[in-house]
Amino acid sequence: MDKFQIFLVAIPGLEEPLRDEALAAGFHNPRVVFGGVVFEGKWPHVWRANLLLRGAVRVLARVAVFKAHHLKQLAPETRAVDWAALIPPDTPFRVEAVCRKSKLYHAGAVAERVRDAIAEVTGALPADAADLRILARVEKDHVTLSIDTSGAPLHRREHKEEVVKAPLRETMASMFLAQMDFDGTQSVVDPMCGSGTIVLEAAEIAAGLAPGRSRRFAYECLVTFDPAAASALLPAAAQKVRTNFLGSDRDGGAVKAAQANAQRAGVADLCAFDRRPLSDARPPEGAPGLVLVNPPYGDRIGTRKELTALYATFGRVMADRFAGWRVGVITTDERLARSTRLPLEGGASVAHGGLKVRLWQGVAG
Ligand SMILES: C[S@@+](CC[C@H](N)C(=O)[O-])C[C@H]1O[C@@H](n2cnc3c(N)ncnc32)[C@H](O)[C@@H]1O
Repeated sequence: MDKFQIFLVAIPGLEEPLRDEALAAGFHNPRVVFGGVVFEGKWPHVWRANLLLRGAVRVLARVAVFKAHHLKQLAPETRAVDWAALIPPDTPFRVEAVCRKSKLYHAGAVAERVRDAIAEVTGALPADAADLRILARVEKDHVTLSIDTSGAPLHRREHKEEVVKAPLRETMASMFLAQMDFDGTQSVVDPMCGSGTIVLEAAEIAAGLAPGRSRRFAYECLVTFDPAAASALLPAAAQKVRTNFLGSDRDGGAVKAAQANAQRAGVADLCAFDRRPLSDARPPEGAPGLVLVNPPYGDRIGTRKELTALYATFGRVMADRFAGWRVGVITTDERLARSTRLPLEGGASVAHGGLKVRLWQGVAG
């Protein structure tokens, strides 16, 4: 296979910062399309996208696009791809299909035809629990066959074993940091840090550590994988860091979890986590940086009053002690963002665990 389309699945609402990240990483002409970002490349670009991009949910290699109106067209079109040059005969695989606005409407039947054709030409066995997943997407009578080259979603950096309630995904934290113009040179503070996701992402970015350095990817089982060439894509060593990455939380369990996660990520010496209430948060020495928080939110009667008071306290602490710092608040609720009385502007609406959140940001003081 020469060049093919590489599709980065985005968190809905965060396609544009993902495109910017892909552009900054040197991928050729990445474009925002429905659901993500697309560009052309070869297998080393697939490995690099998985290893280095912080905002992609997963990376798909589009191996075929064709028109089909009948189920019987699927087997010959699928066999036209050189699957034997992709899937080793001893690697189990599974096929998932979705159909939208098309004559082919039975996703199960589509998956079956594609699966049988791939099994026939590779000798590989289909298995429901296989790690390797082939996706068949039928949209307006066009079938796209893609290999999910990531496997587990990319927010799983495999450093965060300890989580608290409602953790933020690493992919989302890094895209919100990018939207606050974080470039690795500013200090970052999260005074409601939970398991430490925001602080850890920031410290890793500052140190130039690849997000995929500790995990496996589905592309490793493909015929095209070259382990030496892929490891050469990882940065050789962490960069020197001169700024501070601070997290605090009133919950001692959360602080312990954040510390353990920082150890596992290899950034414990760049970060400090303390148990303290928001009202005691203080900026570190040095130039103003960024505060990014993901406070609790919710609509239950009773919690509403407490939450309004919590956001108001946050706003007061920022105005009194963090003047000149860029402040970001990730929340579902504009009224709560407004209760901070900070001059915050809302960004795009972003899907988060069945809810919609926005990043509200502005400068304190
Ligand atoms: C939604 S969680 C944050 C999750 C975090 N971003 C993560 O990825 O794990 C909100 C956190 O705010 C903390 N919190 C709530 N009220 C607080 C207060 N008054 N002072 C400090 N922390 C507080 C909670 O203990 C909880 O860990």
